[in-house]
Amino acid sequence: MRYATLSQTGDLMPTLGLGTWQAPPDVIESTVYKALDLGYRHIDTAFNYNNEEAIGNAIKQWITDGKGTRKDLFITTKLPHVGNRASDVRKFLDLQLSRLQMDYVDLYLIHVPFGFHCNLDTLTPVVKDNGEYDLDMETNHINTWRVMEQCQKEGRIRNLGLSNFNQAQISKIMKHATLKPQVLQVELHAYFQQLELRKFCADNDIVVTAYAPLGSPGAKDHFVNKYNYNPDAFPDLLGHPEVKEIASRHGKTPAQVLLNFLVNQKVVVIPKSTSEKRLKENFDIYDFELMPEEINSLKNLDKGEGGRIFNFLFWKGVEKHPEYPFSVPGAV
Ligand SMILES: NC(=O)c1ccc[n+]([C@@H]2O[C@H](COP(=O)([O-])OP(=O)(O)OC[C@H]3O[C@@H](n4cnc5c(N)ncnc54)[C@H](OP(=O)(O)O)[C@@H]3O)[C@@H](O)[C@H]2O)c1
Repeated sequence: MRYATLSQTGDLMPTLGLGTWQAPPDVIESTVYKALDLGYRHIDTAFNYNNEEAIGNAIKQWITDGKGTRKDLFITTKLPHVGNRASDVRKFLDLQLSRLQMDYVDLYLIHVPFGFHCNLDTLTPVVKDNGEYDLDMETNHINTWRVMEQCQKEGRIRNLGLSNFNQAQISKIMKHATLKPQVLQVELHAYFQQLELRKFCADNDIVVTAYAPLGSPGAKDHFVNKYNYNPDAFPDLLGHPEVKEIASRHGKTPAQVLLNFLVNQKVVVIPKSTSEKRLKENFDIYDFELMPEEINSLKNLDKGEGGRIFNFLFWKGVEKHPEYPFSVPGAV
């Protein structure tokens, strides 16, 4: 395992973690246990994935079975869009820690920069009669961050970060923060390499985590009938001829090539899999080196903004939120 060192705390974050989006509780419990047995030590979850409790069960069992301790693990979870306000941070963190059955998380991220009003019975977004999401126009990142800093001081969060924030939003938090953002988790893969944002993060000692590092092939099923998505949004990165050719040259798989390409550029990767075969495959990425011309041809796959899959426009009306972070396709 290799590690990234986090600013300000010096904590070590494994550069390979297990993603858990789209992994239902009954499946993820045994998957996490298997992954820990295989050597994974970093798990990425979120309130919105509805699987924190199952992940907590697996970790608890693994520790009870004498296979390791809590300190060996790096657990990330995220403050949801429906809790993106100062007055809700403690409520959600408490609930998430109790579901995870832990006293602390290693990393807590604000999941998205915008916020929705929360249905207090279901803890899901309020949706209006016209299908639009009920935006909380009062979202205030600085106030939310201050409460997260307090929770960090109390020891319930070890490190703080952001997800899906743009550069201006991160800068604003840095200006007001006592503990600056240590990690940024964003969509990042060969089709969407985020060079400018990564340079900004490197200059500011922020570790970048790539979500959807394989191009999120499973997102297609999830989004295909949703508002504002069409099948063209999901190019097949794993099936790209150049990626396949590089893989066969090294006796590796396309997924291993795509992950190796990112970790060797100091990017943390969190591929999701619930298959034991692919868990093993995704873990076995450090024993080969891409040649400079191979790295260049992978760099050339970058489509810039055109490679983005996760623009969140499936939440109807989200682009009207003052903190919506991306430029809206088609807008001038
Ligand atoms: N912060 C955010 O807003 C955000 C957004 C999206 C994702 N994330 C996080 O990032 C993680 C990774 O992103 P992701 O799940 O969207 O996409 P991903 O990791 O790029 O791709 C996962 C998909 O690829 C398949 N897969 C995994 N390993 C494979 C392999 N070796 N060969 C072929 N197919 C393989 C998986 O299926 P099987 O399970 O069947 O193997 C799954 O369908 C998420 O799980 C989540 O933890 C965060």
